[in-house]
Amino acid sequence: MPETDVSKEEKKFYEDVPQKNPVFSLKGSGSLDWGMKDRLSRIFSPKTGHTVMLAVDHGYFQGPTTGLERMDISIVPLIPYADALMLTRGILRSLVPPDSNKPIVMRSSGGPSILKELSNEEIAVDIEDAIRMNVSAIALQVFIGGEFETRSVHNMTKLVDAGLRYGIPVMAVTAVGKEMVRDARYFRLACRICAELGAHFVKTYYVPEGFRTVTSSCPVPIVMAGGKKIGELEALTMAYKAIQEGASGVDMGRNIFQSENPVAMIKAVSAVVHKDLTPEKALEMYNDLKSKKRKE
Ligand code: R5P
Repeated sequence: MPETDVSKEEKKFYEDVPQKNPVFSLKGSGSLDWGMKDRLSRIFSPKTGHTVMLAVDHGYFQGPTTGLERMDISIVPLIPYADALMLTRGILRSLVPPDSNKPIVMRSSGGPSILKELSNEEIAVDIEDAIRMNVSAIALQVFIGGEFETRSVHNMTKLVDAGLRYGIPVMAVTAVGKEMVRDARYFRLACRICAELGAHFVKTYYVPEGFRTVTSSCPVPIVMAGGKKIGELEALTMAYKAIQEGASGVDMGRNIFQSENPVAMIKAVSAVVHKDLTPEKALEMYNDLKSKKRKE
């Protein structure tokens, strides 16, 4: 029976108020479908547009990396401070409490270990399992200039097609071989290829010269990769510069979990990424938190 609850006069139709049409502000993501946007908004804070992802997927090719030997002890306590976790499905199922409700960026490529040619990767996860695990994104390595460049690019396009079917974004990680030059020219090429062929966001390395040209020529968000452990001030400075030069976040591993105080470090990184704290202030914050912990 139509509209018997109250009379038309009592209902609120706001006939003179045009419906709001909010813009989805994440870079290059405005034309994506609802599910994609929902998942991306779990990773990138809708307030700041930025993210601090904690990368702990190293074991997929190098086994129990320093700091990741017992992830139940070293990593689970860090989960509340990260915006998203990047890891493998094995660690997700075996060690991450499902009620931590953290957005997951699931490592979805693999194959070779550190003993072999790393670019010889294949897709290592079925999209159905990504859905089953309720992940917010899937990730893989793309080896531009590597021996198996084409295979890794095709892995990505296949994963993008699968992700698009179910509304799951893909993060491409621009891998760098030991002998390859890490400069803005290379990263412009690698990031742009990933975005052109469908990646929804790209993880890449910071370079001191010309990083802004890397972010500005990539039409989707870039998150900065951490790399090997460096000093806290140096790592905070790198994150600060990356954000100021157009990155939408960071995806850091060793510089957080190998730090003397990983909780203090992830909090300091987060302040840099979300609050534009300068590296010097962020280091002060790190040292304060570290000394408070010692006194406890
Ligand atoms: C990079 O190639 C992989 O995704 C790594 O396993 C990891 O994400 C690297 O993190 P970080 O260099 O910050 O330790």
